[in-house]
Amino acid sequence: MMGGKKSFGLRRPLGAHFMRSQGSAIHAALATLAIDALFLARSPAQSAPRERISIDQDWRFEKGDPAGNTVALLYDVRPVVAKKRDDGPADTQANELEHVTAHAQTVTKAWILPTGNPFIKDPARRFVRPNVNWGGNVAYVQRDFDDRAWQQVDLPHDWAIDGPFILTGGGGMGRLPSAGAGWYRKKLNIPATDAGRYIFLDVDGAMSYATVWLNGRMVGGWPYGYASWRVDLTPYAEPGAENLLAIRLDNPPDSSRWYPGGGIYRNVWLTKTAPVHVAQWGTFVTTRDVSAASATIAVEVMIDNALGSSAPVRVASQIFVLDAVGRKTGDAVASIDPVETPVAARASATVKGSVVIANPQLWGPPPHQQPNCYVAVTTVSQNGRVTDAYETRFGIRAVRFEPDSGIYVNGERIQLKGVNQHHDLGALGAAFNRRAAQRQLELLREMGCNAIRTSHNPPAPEFLELTDEMGLLVMDEAFDCWAHGKTPNDFHLIFPDWHEPDLRALVRRDRNHPSVILWSVGNEVGEQYTGEDGAALAKHLCGIVHEEDPTRPATSAMNFAKPDMPLPAVLDVISLNYEGQGIRDTPEFAGTKRIRMPPQYDAYRSRYPHKVILSSETASAFSSRGVYLFPVSKEISALVRDDEGGDPKTCQVSAYELYAVDYGSSPDRVFASIDRHPFVAGEFVWSGWDYLGEPTPYDSSRSSYSGIIDLAGFRKDRFYLYQAHWRPDLPMAHILPHWTWPERVGKVTPVHVFTSGDEGELFLNGRSLGRKKNGPYEYRLRWDEVVYEPGTLKVVTYKNGREWATDEKKTAGPPARLILQPDRAEVCADGHDLSFVTATVTDDGGCTVPRADNRIHFDLDGPGEIVATDNGDPTSFESFPAHDRKAFNGLCLVIVRGVAGKSGKISIVARAEGLISGAAIVQTTPDPPSGPP
Ligand code: GAL
Repeated sequence: MMGGKKSFGLRRPLGAHFMRSQGSAIHAALATLAIDALFLARSPAQSAPRERISIDQDWRFEKGDPAGNTVALLYDVRPVVAKKRDDGPADTQANELEHVTAHAQTVTKAWILPTGNPFIKDPARRFVRPNVNWGGNVAYVQRDFDDRAWQQVDLPHDWAIDGPFILTGGGGMGRLPSAGAGWYRKKLNIPATDAGRYIFLDVDGAMSYATVWLNGRMVGGWPYGYASWRVDLTPYAEPGAENLLAIRLDNPPDSSRWYPGGGIYRNVWLTKTAPVHVAQWGTFVTTRDVSAASATIAVEVMIDNALGSSAPVRVASQIFVLDAVGRKTGDAVASIDPVETPVAARASATVKGSVVIANPQLWGPPPHQQPNCYVAVTTVSQNGRVTDAYETRFGIRAVRFEPDSGIYVNGERIQLKGVNQHHDLGALGAAFNRRAAQRQLELLREMGCNAIRTSHNPPAPEFLELTDEMGLLVMDEAFDCWAHGKTPNDFHLIFPDWHEPDLRALVRRDRNHPSVILWSVGNEVGEQYTGEDGAALAKHLCGIVHEEDPTRPATSAMNFAKPDMPLPAVLDVISLNYEGQGIRDTPEFAGTKRIRMPPQYDAYRSRYPHKVILSSETASAFSSRGVYLFPVSKEISALVRDDEGGDPKTCQVSAYELYAVDYGSSPDRVFASIDRHPFVAGEFVWSGWDYLGEPTPYDSSRSSYSGIIDLAGFRKDRFYLYQAHWRPDLPMAHILPHWTWPERVGKVTPVHVFTSGDEGELFLNGRSLGRKKNGPYEYRLRWDEVVYEPGTLKVVTYKNGREWATDEKKTAGPPARLILQPDRAEVCADGHDLSFVTATVTDDGGCTVPRADNRIHFDLDGPGEIVATDNGDPTSFESFPAHDRKAFNGLCLVIVRGVAGKSGKISIVARAEGLISGAAIVQTTPDPPSGPP
């Protein structure tokens, strides 16, 4: 199984590409069987024309460069950082930051640039590699270097997440030690039978400035930490021997506006092919003329021929149905007629074919549609022998962008109820974990979210497998900046050389995912300020996207550009950050140099009646889960200020869910402005989950306040405000605040209710405090004059006059016990799957003690381990791997993983002084748990 200890020699032939990279042994076995059947009765070397092998296990890792090293290992000379902008407002203008030109021989750049060549269209612009083995004498790349003292790690790995937190300096990058160089080494046994095959190293993501050596020879690398990339190991590989792979990463300081993570934080693969093979991400499946009755599927395949002579090939594709968890089912439902073509020596050729299928099972977003998927299995044959087989997962759907009314999927108008998501997984850091990402998406879906913007960079490949499976729509974003940087060492330093390879690679990698509906080439870029020059660059980037994918529109998120400026004119879709609601549009900001503007939806609509308009960022509302500060604003939206929504002493923000960043708005204010403009396709809220870094408004903290869900995965009150609006058919009501306020007896303590109903009656200790109804463009029921007394607060809500839903809050007694509740009581023993176990501090009667901060100690027994703990408190500097953590407002989280290959019962116990302990059992099984994913 994939999680097995022996990392090499695990065959993961073509089926593996479409399976979970972490998870199911059964899926792996099924796929292997299917492929073996395809190539039955061939010699071992020929029997696997393509293999995709996980090499995530058993790496050695060391932070820092070898002592006494004299070889320059830096990609390029970096600017001297004179002025850091770590805690500046996010909408600060991106600037022309310093670029430094290095002497070619003092840096590694010349060896790395050629790795991007397959993604540079103009042959004249491709790079030629210097004919010198750079870094060949660095100690860490030597085959015989003794790395036994290094840390043994499995990938995905984030070298910074364990901390300790850095308490000095700014909080923008999450206060974790992500900066600096780090080395990974791994022994690769390449069998003698691999002679004559092509061997590629496929890295889904490494943060950042990766350089690769094999057997002491420099292979290449890739700077952008969010890119997926490939280097060709073939010229340096020694089949029949133990090969040594060494990878150096180098994270610059001051390189990000959020926590980037550090290390090889996504999956890594060896791909082996015949010399004539499908190119990297070399297929493009599109669908057209889609209806319930039929659809045309077109498959484009790019074949690379590495041989010194022309190769005649025959390319054919068969289409199969995938089940809900991505397994191929049944016989082929359609076949594309084989095409024969010669592929010239050391060149590529593209073949195209199409087929019409009847009664297609369409891909579309729930609840009214199903995310059905298909897979195209493409075979390449030479002289009657299959030399490659390649799978492309896709969906059949028709997406229409209508300027007057927004986005349609298969004829159904889909209002974007979206969120922005950064890539980190909270206490697990940047290290990709399928289950952790799935949990993020599941909670968002429960809220009614149907769309994700991958702010502001390419996501892990498996993330898009999840959005495909779950039917979420995706705005897939490439960059946070172009040539004008936002932090001294961000992507702007390499933009001139790398924007083309990075952008083409992103689109080629992701264009077959049915969930991706829109490409974004940038976020709040500095080129908004540079008139025609900025627009020309935007046009160039959109042009690259169109060349790689003519079927989807391209956009760039704007927070400064206005309708009469040049930049929006060149975008296919108008994506507005905060502009729809207006930015700092109150007298308070008169005279400030910061961005200010009145609401822009109507102005954009009249200037661009032929373009769809959406809000790529809204809200940036802040709150700390379970924190309520008084007095409470009477407005529907307020800006957070010290002692008005924000507490400068505790660095917490009130969860009355009314407070926002200077340029933002409460969710209510956003709902109203979008509902008043029905042509707007919808919104992406900033942000779905809290993330590490950018802890505005309290830079001394470690993580954000803008999440609807906190860093540990606990729902803030805001969750229910979105759910009420986004799932109008779900009967629900939610009261805030909690009702345990011994110090507020006799004091005004406003009560707000979020409900999908339209009316509600509030009762305090059985006494009615009045019935209220939402007026037009109102989204919360509020009783702002309630005087606190202990007891029971209850709301009964109504919809169209009929009773709809209720909620209750009771005054809790002192903390008495701990309750442990796993999100899944059964997980797969594959070394990856996780159970997220919530510890709740309750009183004697089982009522959550809403401000409990007891220190909890977690113990585990059985075939599992505690990976991390968290409590969602943005000010906590307890390190994530600690088994010991304070509850934050009554809750704490422990993340548990089963040991690979050892199924059994894991027992988890939570203890706190003076409280009755809590316990839970998580069963790990050799097979994936039954039921839907
Ligand atoms: C936006 C920016 C986001 C984030 C957000 C926080 O301006 O695009 O990346 O910084 O502000 O409010």
